[in-house]
Amino acid sequence: MVYLQRSSFVATGLLLFVLFTIVTSASNENEQSIGHSDSFRNFQEHFWAEFKHFERKMESEVVKLKMKVDLLEAKILEQEHLLKECKTCSNIKKKSENKMPLKYDVIDYSQNIKKQSLLAPKTCLEALTEDPSLESGMFLIDPDGQGRGDDPIYVYCNMTTGSSSVLHDSEDSIEVSHCFDPGCYSRQIKYNATLRQITMLSELSNECRQAIEVDCYDAAFEFNGIAYAWWNDRNGDPRYFWSGKDNNSTSHYHTCQCGLEGSCVDKSLSCNCDSDLAMDLSDKGVVTDKDLLPLTKLNFGRTIAPTSVKRHKLGRMECNGKVVLDGMPTSCEDLWRVGYILSGIYSVKGSSNKVETVYCDFSKLPGDEGLQTWIGFADLKSEPVYFNVERNTSYNILNETMPFEWETLNVGNAFNLTSGVFTAPRPGTYFFAFSSFPETQYYDRTNSCYILYTVKLVSGDEVKVSLKQGSISSALFTGVLLAEDIFQS
Ligand SMILES: *[C@@H]1O[C@H](CO)[C@@H](O)[C@H](O)[C@H]1NC(C)=O
Ligand SMILES: *[C@@H]1O[C@H](CO)[C@@H](O)[C@H](O)[C@H]1NC(C)=O
Ligand SMILES: *[C@@H]1O[C@H](CO)[C@@H](O)[C@H](O)[C@H]1NC(C)=O
Ligand SMILES: *[C@@H]1O[C@H](CO)[C@@H](O)[C@H](O)[C@H]1NC(C)=O
Ligand SMILES: *[C@@H]1O[C@H](CO)[C@@H](O)[C@H](O)[C@H]1NC(C)=O
Ligand SMILES: *[C@@H]1O[C@H](CO)[C@@H](O)[C@H](O)[C@H]1NC(C)=O
Ligand SMILES: *[C@@H]1O[C@H](CO)[C@@H](O)[C@H](O)[C@H]1NC(C)=O
Repeated sequence: MVYLQRSSFVATGLLLFVLFTIVTSASNENEQSIGHSDSFRNFQEHFWAEFKHFERKMESEVVKLKMKVDLLEAKILEQEHLLKECKTCSNIKKKSENKMPLKYDVIDYSQNIKKQSLLAPKTCLEALTEDPSLESGMFLIDPDGQGRGDDPIYVYCNMTTGSSSVLHDSEDSIEVSHCFDPGCYSRQIKYNATLRQITMLSELSNECRQAIEVDCYDAAFEFNGIAYAWWNDRNGDPRYFWSGKDNNSTSHYHTCQCGLEGSCVDKSLSCNCDSDLAMDLSDKGVVTDKDLLPLTKLNFGRTIAPTSVKRHKLGRMECNGKVVLDGMPTSCEDLWRVGYILSGIYSVKGSSNKVETVYCDFSKLPGDEGLQTWIGFADLKSEPVYFNVERNTSYNILNETMPFEWETLNVGNAFNLTSGVFTAPRPGTYFFAFSSFPETQYYDRTNSCYILYTVKLVSGDEVKVSLKQGSISSALFTGVLLAEDIFQS
């Protein structure tokens, strides 16, 4: 009996496996029946004259258009020439403080709409990275990529930090009207950008934030277990936390900054305003949940009392930094975030420690269906591993690793012929097959041994064969790395 063993496991036994002109024919008939009528002939002549006139007119239009095209072409050449000159002289001009309109400067944009969409960077940070001499101000950026998706958006760029801020219509302190029911006061926030552009800005940024300040006097967010106030996130879902991030709980999550710090007026509550006291209170917070921003609607209630006051002041949605990929890209979204724009077949780090081949359609954006199409696993091996070893002399030593006499293949040098030990050089799934024949005098097919085994190994695992009883006349041992766990070592 022969055993195939891997570190601690022992496979016993005799396992047997069977391993796409107007057609004139119809009008000819008409011509035959009414063809000799004078009126028809007059009509024909008239029509013909009109047609000639039209033809001359078109010809002159075509000539005019050709001239225009020539003129435009000449202008483009001139522009290109100027641009080249500008590239070579820009450094000198800057040094001599000769302030030219800067590449992304607003002044430049207002002169020519086409030019601006050609040059709009994805984020303020990208603009700053390209031209560190830029000063803070309003800029056109195009987070969803130039020349596609929505039109570029007009944002405030802080060129000290490279942050991009999206402006809206509710930045001032606005007083909530008097009403009682939960959410009876509701204000839609109008951003000077499409939600899609804002979402793409947050996808490209490392962090996004939006400050909210609520002043209150006898007007709680929540009272006696009833939520009178909430905001709606980018998907329109209600949210009850006024600072920080969502805490991932499925239950109603309500807090303010003071609740996070444990510094609320009433320590048993999570917002100052919740104390419902006839006293000037305030809750200031910064919502930092990038995936929920921006706040799209503010809803308040419980302000019916003539004396109750509530004011809200919502900050701009500000995004900072560049999203940093944590290791290798795992999806088309990751590739989009780091700047890939050409659709095609890409390899990404898939789950299960294998390289996966995916098709990325970059005419789509993150969150769109069809951005990524899974194709399959890439059959990659950092090194090939397979061996085939044999022996043909009598062997009867029990319980010891069987050595082999010659190898026909030993790619990867993982099998040590003299010691009989196979050491897995890489983690992955391996396949082994062993067969042996007993000594001739006891020859009997049923005594022949076949072991087939597919097993997952980690680097350093050993696989060896030993005899438990009897003796053998010849043996063959073969193994192959079927699939490597590429991202494990
Ligand atoms: C809103 O954006 C447009 C361009 O997208 C710009 O012309 C306009 O001045 C912006 N309005 C504000 C208030 O920023
Ligand atoms: C830019 O951002 C920094 C940090 O938030 C701030 O201190 C500074 O005043 C901002 N500068 C401008 C011009 O907005
Ligand atoms: C919420 O879940 C996300 C994703 O599962 C995780 O990255 C984040 O750290 C969680 N946040 C909290 C406050 O638990
Ligand atoms: C989330 O917030 C709810 C309500 O404030 C609280 O009960 C829950 O414990 C929090 N969950 C986590 C994971 O922090
Ligand atoms: C064992 O194999 C070697 C090499 O193929 C061969 O030269 C030798 O004759 C074989 N011995 C026996 C006993 O069959
Ligand atoms: C070989 O090992 C088996 C069980 O592991 C044991 O029963 C047997 O006595 C051993 N034989 C020798 C010769 O050590
Ligand atoms: C093979 O194993 C033998 C015996 O254990 C050892 O002496 C030798 O160094 C090994 N060969 C290699 C290439 O590791």
